[in-house]
Amino acid sequence: MVARAPIRKVSDAAIRDAAAMLRFGHLVAFPTETVYGLGADATNAEAVARIFEAKGRPRFNPLIVHVLRLDRAEALVRFDELALKFAKAFWPGPLTLVLPKADGCRVAELATAGLDTLAIRVPAHEAAASLLAAVDRPVAAPSANRSGHVSPTTAEHVAADLGAHVAMILDAGPATVGLESTIVGFDDGEPVLLRAGGVPVEALSEAAGVKVRIASHELDARPNAPGRLASHYAPKTPLRLNAHAPKRGEAWLGFGPGGPEEDGVSVINLSERGDLVEAAARLFAALRTLDASGAEAIAVAPVPETGLGLAINDRLRRAAVR
Ligand code: TXA
Ligand code: MG
Repeated sequence: MVARAPIRKVSDAAIRDAAAMLRFGHLVAFPTETVYGLGADATNAEAVARIFEAKGRPRFNPLIVHVLRLDRAEALVRFDELALKFAKAFWPGPLTLVLPKADGCRVAELATAGLDTLAIRVPAHEAAASLLAAVDRPVAAPSANRSGHVSPTTAEHVAADLGAHVAMILDAGPATVGLESTIVGFDDGEPVLLRAGGVPVEALSEAAGVKVRIASHELDARPNAPGRLASHYAPKTPLRLNAHAPKRGEAWLGFGPGGPEEDGVSVINLSERGDLVEAAARLFAALRTLDASGAEAIAVAPVPETGLGLAINDRLRRAAVR
């Protein structure tokens, strides 16, 4: 029999326990007004890696980070006048804003899949707010379903899909909106609808006093084209995959025991002990460091095609195509 996480009705004690688990690096599913989220401490890269492991996502999509209030968001991302207008009009509520990361943003690189932008929202749900206040850290949370399944609107849905992967499921009954948040990004300051959701696009346009353009989904088909909103992080240095040792002039991205000694600049081991969660947690920061090392190429050790290895290899393969 598969172990199931306890469903706990919202109470002060349940919130306190859930917050402690999140701070400890565990996953906690929690209600929001849109759908139930699969939460992890957004500042803890290994906790964020466990989200991808639990969802069984074959790739690292950037996640939405949840905060208690606008002032908490301002510590993580930079708002221009228009973004501030949206935040003031719709937060707390089902609107996610994609904004440039602020200097010193403590959110793990894996949560943004290495991007320089962060998707952020303030949920309008009492239990979510109590949890965020108790955790006192930003919480990364995709919808709490296995990859490819529909988003859950009750604690029972979450238990059926992810019960064996979460420490606790906070239950506050059915989600009221039942639809994910609307996502708005900015293209040269111009607002662009990236995902339709709980806030209608007309309401956005009205609040902003400018028309919100609807993103053409073709943009996503060319993820590495410059200037694309949903563009993926890719190093400038060429990657050589499935390498067994670095050649002269190459940086080394290792996995598993052995290999050159780690020096932190041109040699990094994603996980000496061959742990895919640890490797996923370190992947984006490692790519950035090696990209900046001045090496001609980055030789990458083979990573097994199991569990999180699928998403790691997906990202490495995409970074290697140029
Ligand atoms: O209502 C919601 O938004 C729910 C609740 C739990 O808050 N969350 C949710 O998360 O739907 P998720 O992971 O299922 O969807 C996140 C979406 C993805 O499509 C992702 O590509 C996009 O947000 N996204 C995240 N960060 C982004 C970024 N920096 N740039 C562009 N898109 C981003
Ligand atoms: Mg989802």
